[in-house]
Amino acid sequence: MIGLNTDAAVSFAGVINVEAAFTAERIAMAMPMSGWTRLPDDMERELPRLREAGQKIAESSDALVVIGAGGSSLGARALIEALPPRGVREVYFAGDNLSGSYMSRLVSRLANRDFSVIATSKSGTTTEPAAALRVLLKLLRERYGAQLSDRLYIVAGDGGSALRSFAETSGAGLFGIPESVGGRYSVLTAAGLLPAAARGLDIAEILRGAREESQHGTVTALRYAAVRQSLYSAGYRTEIFASFEPDARSLGEWWKQLFGESEGKHSGGIFPASVSFTGDLHSMGQYIQEGRRDIFETIVSFGESAVGAVIPDNSEFDDGFQFLDGRRFDAVNETARDAVKAAHLAGGVPVMELTVPGATEASLGALMFFFEYACAVSAIIGGVANPFDQPGVEAYKRIMLDTLKNFAH
Ligand code: PA5
Repeated sequence: MIGLNTDAAVSFAGVINVEAAFTAERIAMAMPMSGWTRLPDDMERELPRLREAGQKIAESSDALVVIGAGGSSLGARALIEALPPRGVREVYFAGDNLSGSYMSRLVSRLANRDFSVIATSKSGTTTEPAAALRVLLKLLRERYGAQLSDRLYIVAGDGGSALRSFAETSGAGLFGIPESVGGRYSVLTAAGLLPAAARGLDIAEILRGAREESQHGTVTALRYAAVRQSLYSAGYRTEIFASFEPDARSLGEWWKQLFGESEGKHSGGIFPASVSFTGDLHSMGQYIQEGRRDIFETIVSFGESAVGAVIPDNSEFDDGFQFLDGRRFDAVNETARDAVKAAHLAGGVPVMELTVPGATEASLGALMFFFEYACAVSAIIGGVANPFDQPGVEAYKRIMLDTLKNFAH
């Protein structure tokens, strides 16, 4: 279960009464897209297929390319980077940018490796993954010919798309995303679980953690949502997700997308930012300590690692850091975290603390469900008409597609 300490933050803004926010009208608006709440149970029946496909990828491939944009790759990446690998050795991401040099480097990296591809797009209408899939399909065809379909997996919306039809006719492995699950809420569908299974992660544990959180953690998530909305009402406009584990950097990216696309509407919403400490203390630390005073911080801490390194004695020279000798890195990291909290609070930054019981599959599943729940209720408290759409994303797409369609090569 996810722990939450809001004491220090509450002293800045109190806690608003959220009851009035949950009107029948707002709940009715959210209901059609509430499929994510049922995923921890519903996905149980998909586990055997997902595990089988994941194992096949791990056994046949040195590398996996995960194609997808936004919610179709950020959750998978967060899980893969936060947890120790056991399955396929190398995982590359594509379809989340349109950089030619990035793609060329990826193609060269795959030159001497057996690889598989998972391409995810709920809508099948996103340009970035469509461009990347073209490159990877060509590469698969050149390398594996008719056996291409053994190495290609498509995760597509159940509502149907050209991508889904292609999967059905090409013989590629096909997995679905229910229509009632929005893209950024899809980490517990095949969008997140298939790449995780290929990496050798225990996807049943991810679901178990999420299920337990859905049964016992929603009051805590509601409190997190209420406190962040209280802070917003009191003028705190930016929330920073801060972690002291570099492996959680992509989790911060996933969190930003979840909250940014859900709440950034009607000319309002808390701006989500993320930092990775202690590294970012030497860049963003200055701004957080002394910049605009409309920031609050949510520090996410993981329990102690079982494989944590110890700082060895240094008898070579006296650099003034002898007090570090023999200490565990994690203990020093904890001291840094406590110091950051004290300094930021003193500097006028409200701090909330989330504690996760270790970087394990179950904990990550729990944390992701916690944030999904908190995000949905926070958006409703904040008066967002529909937390699950992203009409603003369409604006650039329209202009870009109009230009591309009229583009003479
Ligand atoms: O939350 C969302 O729905 C979006 O961020 C999508 O995940 C993203 O735009 C990718 O969409 P698709 O999976 O349809 O390619």
